Amino acid sequence: MNSRQLTIGLFGFGVVGEGLYKVLEQTPSLRATIKKVCIKNPGKKRNAPATLFTTDRDELLNDPGINVIVEVINESGPAFEIVSTALKNGKAVVSASKKMIAEHLPEILEMQKIYNQPFLCESAACASIPVIRNLEEYYDNDLLHSIRAIVNGSTNFILTRMFEDKLDFKQAVMLAQQLGFAEADPSLDVEGWDAVNKWTFLLTHAYGIVEKTEHIVFNGIQNINLSDAVVAREKNYEIKLVAQAKKLNNGKVAAFVLPQFVLHEDPLAFVKNEFNGVVIESSFADKQFFYGKGAGSFPTASAVLSDISALRYGYRYEYKKLYYHTPPVLTNDFYVRAYLSFDDWKNIPRDKFEWIEEWHAGDRKYLSGVLHFEHLKNDSWWKENQVSLILMPDAIIEDIEIRKLKKKSLELAGILD
Ligand code: HSE
Repeated sequence: MNSRQLTIGLFGFGVVGEGLYKVLEQTPSLRATIKKVCIKNPGKKRNAPATLFTTDRDELLNDPGINVIVEVINESGPAFEIVSTALKNGKAVVSASKKMIAEHLPEILEMQKIYNQPFLCESAACASIPVIRNLEEYYDNDLLHSIRAIVNGSTNFILTRMFEDKLDFKQAVMLAQQLGFAEADPSLDVEGWDAVNKWTFLLTHAYGIVEKTEHIVFNGIQNINLSDAVVAREKNYEIKLVAQAKKLNNGKVAAFVLPQFVLHEDPLAFVKNEFNGVVIESSFADKQFFYGKGAGSFPTASAVLSDISALRYGYRYEYKKLYYHTPPVLTNDFYVRAYLSFDDWKNIPRDKFEWIEEWHAGDRKYLSGVLHFEHLKNDSWWKENQVSLILMPDAIIEDIEIRKLKKKSLELAGILD
């Protein structure tokens, strides 16, 4: 099969854009060249010839000589306008804008159909790990039991530096910014927004679920307390920000992004610093683990490069789980086993728990117990007043298991014989 010559219009020349420029210079075999780069700030010194740059987006979007638009800018509104116009103008699109994709998923799906152009976004989730193409091509809907993943490099970097190198939180955040991992507004990383944005469209590629980000329960690492790290160490756990999705026995999918204690033998415990990791469980293959750099200039540029390379052969996402299957729906009807640390009992509605397994008094108190997921979906007490919620390993408990487990826990507590 002959491959196409690709002429690229690039939007953005920050950490990822410049990385891509350098990487493309070193891979002439790809037959892809950048014709123009559209930037916002013309006064900034750039490490590329001045003739390459423009501030006029139409120079790229209306140039019939450009057949691919690569968009790696920060702001989600302008990114969506660029993507929409590019697809409408018959250009293939490669995008790294996770926030924009999460916010405009239904429109992006629709435009790909209407204008019959590919939209690839491998770099938008887990950077160098080819998770989207794997989910698209390899795992059939019926085979995919669960995915658990670390999808945000900055929070993983911050947790690693805080708990292993004893850096304080602010220093760790600053370092993540200096190294080019963190978002321009690092609260997007720290508070879990970036992770849940990525999870929104990974759910589409994994299960065909098209859901609004605001319907997915999430939190970041902002409430994690040093005392939580002490508890984790005592119990031989690591603390990670884990995005997960699990197909329940009723065929519905439980999905959320929350801090979690992970066992040392869990592959996710092995994921440190800005690395990301994805554990997939499928019917026959059992567990598979993908690991790689999830943030930073070259790791992200490498995924953009791989998308560009795939375009040469006419690759596009088919969204098989969405269009060829009846996609499962998200459910909040299940239970989770959670640990909470807090300063004051009055901030913890104990009546919401099915049962409490362990509790500790002291300045910083904690308990672990089981509660229905609806309480996390509908209430916010677990994010407020410095309450820190961390899921236990193997957190999801299905409806059908709950009665048996409750009975057992009451027996253990000596309440039932
Ligand atoms: N801020 C993001 C992260 C960059 O830390 O994962 C990569 O998407």
